[in-house]
Amino acid sequence: MDTELLTRTFVEYYEDRGHRRITGSTLLPPPGDTVLFTTSGMHPLTPYLEGRPHPLGRRLVNVQRCLRTTDLDEVGDSTHLTVFEMLGTWSLGDYEGPRSLDWGHRLLTEGLGVDPGRLHATVFGGDDRTGPDTASLRLWQELGVPVELTVEDNWWSNGPVGPCGPDSEIFLWTGDGPPRSTPTRDDRWVEVWNHVTMRHRRLPDGSLVPLPQRNVDTGLGLERLAALLQGKPSVFECDVFEPWRRLVPGLWPLDEPSLRLVGDHLRSAVVVLGDGVRPAGTGRGYVLRRLVRRVLTVLWRDDPSRGLGDLPLEPVSHTLDHFRQDDGPEQVRRLLVEEERRFGRLLERGRQVLARPRFRGPLGEDDFRYLHDTHGLPRDLVTGLREG
Ligand code: SER
Repeated sequence: MDTELLTRTFVEYYEDRGHRRITGSTLLPPPGDTVLFTTSGMHPLTPYLEGRPHPLGRRLVNVQRCLRTTDLDEVGDSTHLTVFEMLGTWSLGDYEGPRSLDWGHRLLTEGLGVDPGRLHATVFGGDDRTGPDTASLRLWQELGVPVELTVEDNWWSNGPVGPCGPDSEIFLWTGDGPPRSTPTRDDRWVEVWNHVTMRHRRLPDGSLVPLPQRNVDTGLGLERLAALLQGKPSVFECDVFEPWRRLVPGLWPLDEPSLRLVGDHLRSAVVVLGDGVRPAGTGRGYVLRRLVRRVLTVLWRDDPSRGLGDLPLEPVSHTLDHFRQDDGPEQVRRLLVEEERRFGRLLERGRQVLARPRFRGPLGEDDFRYLHDTHGLPRDLVTGLREG
């Protein structure tokens, strides 16, 4: 089952249960939002989770592209991506968590053919402020799905303030033998779907107040589930990476972790460019810049003659098409190459400046500030050059 069929199956399943499909937004959150990128499907829906009536009603479903920089250092394992898509459902003050879990379980097992014996759930066990989520626990017990209770791992929030609540996560066993142990003790249990009962708002002083309505917000990682359903050992082998996996290794022979990083970051950079972001020294543009620089650092480690101008257009246009972005692949590749040139010049200058006697010993904060303000050399680049 490829990601397109999986998405269609998911959306139709929820439409059959009264949900209206809303169009996912770009990676750029609405104006006035303080975060740089949309990090989860619920993000553009925050006002509606907080009580504003949604024009399409109380049951919604969508597909949202997301970008998470918090996972940047985890990219390279088998489950994390920088840009990924989240299939989401919402009950805006309508049905409660157990119904959401029951539907989710049926979709996975009956609709998508997942063996029920490969499932495990986790549930919020309660803390000094909020009681345990007994309703979810009971539902899983009725369905015969094993449950592990946790505290921090089963509380979801999108940041220090705003809507939050206890969640119940669904894990799939990816080991060879029969399922063993529990999700927190064995990472062969891979989380695929999070159902959050979003009924609190956290205030700046840390206290919790009830939201005007009790919502359910669920998010399922599309590429992760697709890879598991396709029997692939990692997200990098599901269909969205097909042209990247087919064409990049012939161009740049890389070990598997480097291939994953290069594929993830380049594909993410393409999507970010396709959403209109341009490289810059701050904000979104700097996230984009870091993605490109991390790719180049890996490519040039073995062979400084490698260049992004050699990147075939096929994976670029495959990605732009997938996200229905209008920029042409040549234009996107040209922007990547311009950024590569800028980085090449900066590295050259960095090497010259760091060769000066003043910078031979340990560097202090004044040195880093001077290198940044006078020569445009960011701290991570200086550190990288000195380590290299
Ligand atoms: N907001 C939750 C998450 O991002 C569920 O959508 O995991």
